[in-house]
Amino acid sequence: MARIVFFTGAGVSAESGIPTFRGKGGLWERFKVEELATPEGFAKDPAKVWKWYDLRRKIIAEAQPNDAHKLMALIEKEHGDVWVITQNVDGLHRRAGSENVLELHGNIWKVRCTACGISYYEFKTPLEEYPPRCRECGGILRPDVVWFGEPLPPGVLEKAWELSRTSDLFVVAGTSALVYPAAQLPFIAKEGGAYVIEINPESTPVSRIADEVMRTTATEGMKLLYRRLKEGRYL
Ligand code: OAD
Repeated sequence: MARIVFFTGAGVSAESGIPTFRGKGGLWERFKVEELATPEGFAKDPAKVWKWYDLRRKIIAEAQPNDAHKLMALIEKEHGDVWVITQNVDGLHRRAGSENVLELHGNIWKVRCTACGISYYEFKTPLEEYPPRCRECGGILRPDVVWFGEPLPPGVLEKAWELSRTSDLFVVAGTSALVYPAAQLPFIAKEGGAYVIEINPESTPVSRIADEVMRTTATEGMKLLYRRLKEGRYL
């Protein structure tokens, strides 16, 4: 069976009201990445990092999956061998019903203890204290997400690499494709012979290798893609 892989970034959740990182109105325009998304920033001021994450958790808790998330989930139901490889930590793909989801950068609802290493889901927001404490050992918790300078969770990159290399249709949606190693995946897919589609209102490094570019939003692009898949256009 032909394999479809969706590779997604913050732009896919933009229409759910969750800010992107780069570009106009992006988080990295207003906030300092080195203070908020690095192990060094956390070591220096864990409470500050947690307050920022808690604000984002609140926005995400109030957000709903949009048609782009929903159509990816529907395509998985209808087609089977469909995977979402996401850089997003918001969990909206699963909330939309996707089951084959690989979270490259972790999940904002997960916490990890800096002392005993345990990791678990903690959905409370606002949190009771900054930084929150481990329910097992009382150690300081951190968000279980990947920060700059940190490796991806064990096994996840390998799996993403393999899925990309063996995909037949590889759809890159809503990512600036600037953050490595994730940004390598479209190129792996292309080398592996996949038909690569980019959905993004702006040009990215993927645009020049894409077989097809949809210069539109994630929801509009996914509607078009869904119609074309039904017509048997790609597989
Ligand atoms: P970025 O914020 O870098 O890029 C968002 C992309 O979405 C841009 O290319 C926009 O043009 C596009 N976009 C905006 N609105 C859109 C819409 N409605 N529909 C489709 N596309 C839209 O986000 P990512 O590429 O996900 O990493 O960023 C990658 C990583 O950098 C994130 O996972 C995070 C960040 O720092 C870590 O925290 C490690």
